[in-house]
Amino acid sequence: MAYSDKVIDHYTNPRNVGTLDKASAQVGTGLVGAPECGDVMRLQIQVDENNIITDAKFKTFGCGSAIASSSLATEWLKGKSVDDAMKIDNMDIVEELALPPVKIHCSVLAEDAIKAAINDFRVKNGMEPIELEKSH
Ligand code: FES
Ligand code: FES
Repeated sequence: MAYSDKVIDHYTNPRNVGTLDKASAQVGTGLVGAPECGDVMRLQIQVDENNIITDAKFKTFGCGSAIASSSLATEWLKGKSVDDAMKIDNMDIVEELALPPVKIHCSVLAEDAIKAAINDFRVKNGMEPIELEKSH
């Protein structure tokens, strides 16, 4: 299967690979897995006192599309408010990376990871987790 140039770019030069301090109250960690393929994605956000995401990191053990989806997601997250981050839809990722239909589920993994990270941050800070409709 042919990958788009943007997927190849993110795959060969992934942005924001790494780890943030999981124990910090300002850090939300999302860890999601796809039972179908056994791939795992961890995405973390660092949130400041104004609810702005100042940093985002990821580590993905998965296919090229999943790595590219999470790399792109961390780029989009930086500078966004937590509320705006909640609105990132996997279909935005599909469009930006020109993912073929068989790889759409890999972008769902990224959306799930973003929402899981936000919910971890919310729960740590005494807020209710947001209910998620979509899941991998
Ligand atoms: Fe496993 Fe894409 S994440 S096939
Ligand atoms: Fe691998 Fe969906 S089966 S990401």
